[in-house]
Amino acid sequence: MEIKQSEFVSSFADVRKCPAPDKPEFAFIGRSNVGKSSLINMLTGRKGLAKISVKPGKTQTINHFIINNSWYLVDLPGYGYASVSRSQRFSWGKMIEEYILKRENLYCLFVLIDSRLDPQPIDLSFISWAGSKEIPICILFTKTDKLKKNQLLPNRKRFENSLLESWEELPPMIITSSTEGKGKKEVLSFIKNALANQK
Ligand code: GTP
Ligand code: MG
Repeated sequence: MEIKQSEFVSSFADVRKCPAPDKPEFAFIGRSNVGKSSLINMLTGRKGLAKISVKPGKTQTINHFIINNSWYLVDLPGYGYASVSRSQRFSWGKMIEEYILKRENLYCLFVLIDSRLDPQPIDLSFISWAGSKEIPICILFTKTDKLKKNQLLPNRKRFENSLLESWEELPPMIITSSTEGKGKKEVLSFIKNALANQK
């Protein structure tokens, strides 16, 4: 599948203000700075579409982008960003939780995992929570350009083993790098299949 058209629609801190849930949507979640906004830019081929920053905590609202006039990509704030105030962290957490649980047109949640790190408790607990709520997820390993070739496989295996401690079956997983365009075809074909299967 090709993205021929992509356009910013809205940015809200309240799920009730988001666009009418009348089109399929795919959202990106993960720790602050993991590369959610960068991945949206990579997929759409538009560098400045979603705002990115070297500093964590850049995306603070729910951002909708309409793709090919028929479905949405959604950029979400990160979780686990320690430097924002406790009350702000709580309200972001609530906003994300509400969005994920209430958004009826959410076809799949892409959970981004930094491929360079050991399995992080906050990622594992987020995935557990999403699983307990029966939210369909797909894992995207990010920033793989920063890894040496022989590090990727063991890191992925370590992450899979952590998941298998509580899950019988692994979710789909895709290796990505926004700087190298890696995983673009795979993510778009995942979306294409999801759109075809759920209609
Ligand atoms: P928040 O909005 O703060 O939650 O962060 P985010 O997950 O949207 O991350 P963002 O896309 O803003 O990227 C954070 C930093 O990581 C930026 O400096 C990006 O340039 C960098 N980055 C993102 N993806 C990649 C990647 O695939 N490779 C490399 N080398 N850097 C990346
Ligand atoms: Mg962001």
